[in-house]
Amino acid sequence: MYRSHTCGELRIENVGTTVTLSGWLQKSRDLGGMTFIDLRDRYGITQLVFNMEVNAELCNRARKLGREFVIQVEGVVTERSSKNKNMTTGEVEITVDVLKVLNKSKTPPFTIEDETDGGEDIRMKYRYLDLRRRPVMKNLHLRHRMSIESRKYLDEIGFFEIETPYLIKSTPEGARDFVVPSRMNEGQFYALPQSPQTFKQLLMVSGYDKYYQIVKCFRDEDLRADRQPEFTQIDCEMSFVEQEDILNTFEGLIKHLFDKVKNVQFDEQFPRMSYDEAMRRYGSDKPDIRFDMEFVDMNTVTQHKDFNVFNSSEAVIGIVAPGANTYTRKQIDAVIKWVKRPQVGALGMVYCRCNEDGSFKSSVDKFYTQEDLAQWAAHTGAKSGDLILLLSGGLDSTRKQMNELRLHMASELGLMDVNVFKPLWVLDFPLLEWDEDSKRYHAMHHPFTSPKPEDLSLIDDNPGAVRANAYDLAINGVEVGGGSIRIHDRELQSRMFDLLGFTTEEAEAQFGFLLNAFEYGAPPHGGLAFGFDRLCSLFGGSDSIRDFIAFPKNNSGRDVMIDAPAPIDNEQLKELSLKLEINTKE
Ligand code: AMO
Repeated sequence: MYRSHTCGELRIENVGTTVTLSGWLQKSRDLGGMTFIDLRDRYGITQLVFNMEVNAELCNRARKLGREFVIQVEGVVTERSSKNKNMTTGEVEITVDVLKVLNKSKTPPFTIEDETDGGEDIRMKYRYLDLRRRPVMKNLHLRHRMSIESRKYLDEIGFFEIETPYLIKSTPEGARDFVVPSRMNEGQFYALPQSPQTFKQLLMVSGYDKYYQIVKCFRDEDLRADRQPEFTQIDCEMSFVEQEDILNTFEGLIKHLFDKVKNVQFDEQFPRMSYDEAMRRYGSDKPDIRFDMEFVDMNTVTQHKDFNVFNSSEAVIGIVAPGANTYTRKQIDAVIKWVKRPQVGALGMVYCRCNEDGSFKSSVDKFYTQEDLAQWAAHTGAKSGDLILLLSGGLDSTRKQMNELRLHMASELGLMDVNVFKPLWVLDFPLLEWDEDSKRYHAMHHPFTSPKPEDLSLIDDNPGAVRANAYDLAINGVEVGGGSIRIHDRELQSRMFDLLGFTTEEAEAQFGFLLNAFEYGAPPHGGLAFGFDRLCSLFGGSDSIRDFIAFPKNNSGRDVMIDAPAPIDNEQLKELSLKLEINTKE
């Protein structure tokens, strides 16, 4: 028997018991005639004590143990003279009688403690050591609970978990595919699924009317804190449902997770907002509504005053940064510099201070009188002590820039409380979006999304104005999930492929299996998928989904621990009938 208890288990009630523990040596301290060792496992830390006067040979052996040695001890649980209230096992220690080294360890490249001295790169290279740290274990425990609770909820209401294949043909979720060459089918490739989209729709045709799967998805796209090339979805689909049924069912799932995992209850229905409204009020399809700073259309109060920048702009948008009149000139200049960075792309920013004495001070005092500025304040609802910020230009670009600025100011002003959760359904997304580069429409969600029946008449003459039965769930500005009611009619699906620029032959070649299936009694259906890693990081209060993935990739898509991707040898290439021609990028 390696252990009778874990390192997180022993309490004052156990005093006097003889126990066996196994674990890793986190830290050891020699104090006079005593040696103390912190023994760690997944469950916690227990203090071991060795006494030179009682057993010098044992104590000397203990003194020689290094960090991360794996040891087994037998001893008696004793009450500590100086108790540590911060540790669950802090009232007791083990007076060790028997010590066995189960394995030695090299000195680890960083300290394996809550606060480590290891930078990101080194921790990722030795991820198996990083995973020993308590904050990382806590994150993976949270992830485990999220998946268990998701399964419980979905099972309870009759969902089947069904696995779908990973070696498939391209799925059109908008990113590039990862491809896998087939040895048995020379010159042909599988694509890894960007999502199980087409398979879950086929399952609906097969009559499995409530499907879900906690599933890996693969997308070759530029990476960010909330994006990984392989990530996990809670993927769901239902038949004989309308949008309302889907929203209610999966709002239920999210509420269940909050309740069971975070002990946060939502009594009300999640608020809903149309895509158009979200863009108008926040310039984003995933607005963070933990704070206000809503957009105010400033065109009417800024025009005809000799300030040509505003006169000639399609849009002049303002926000009120609450209490930000405390910003010094230097701080405001830093914000201006920030919005002018290419990543944001504004040409400039106008500000107006609302002073405590009721006066105003703006960066465009030459063109606007105190009365004009008072009108700005009245129009935006700014109070004394606030700072009004304005951007102008084309409508879409100004909204985009103002969205960035709004989030930046909220972050600077400390308005993004990680303990506050504000979900929002965003509904009625456009069906299509125009792509300037390829000069054609792309599906905003994916090509299987159903147009709103009431907008169908626009599909020939004004396709850009057609709205879809598509929805996203945003929480605190993070898009945690999205889905749609699907097309289940072959004719309409063919029309959709046509709109997206597929020839009949191309549509047939890529999605013939789905179009055919629609000819054999496809039920009305719809669904959605949650980004599981994003949900976990949101629940865990972190911006980075990597913290919640056991073995994540870095920003260049590399796993630096196993050193992948890596070249394959010529033998393997030959077997796959492949020849490499590397184009070095300019
Ligand atoms: P969508 O493409 O919106 O929809 O993806 C669903 C959710 O998955 C998460 N997500 C990601 N998470 C981490 N890294 C990524 N690279 C990444 N890409 C997406 C997001 C997103 O909301 N088949 C449809 C769903 C449906 O229509 O039912 C789909 O995949 O949280």
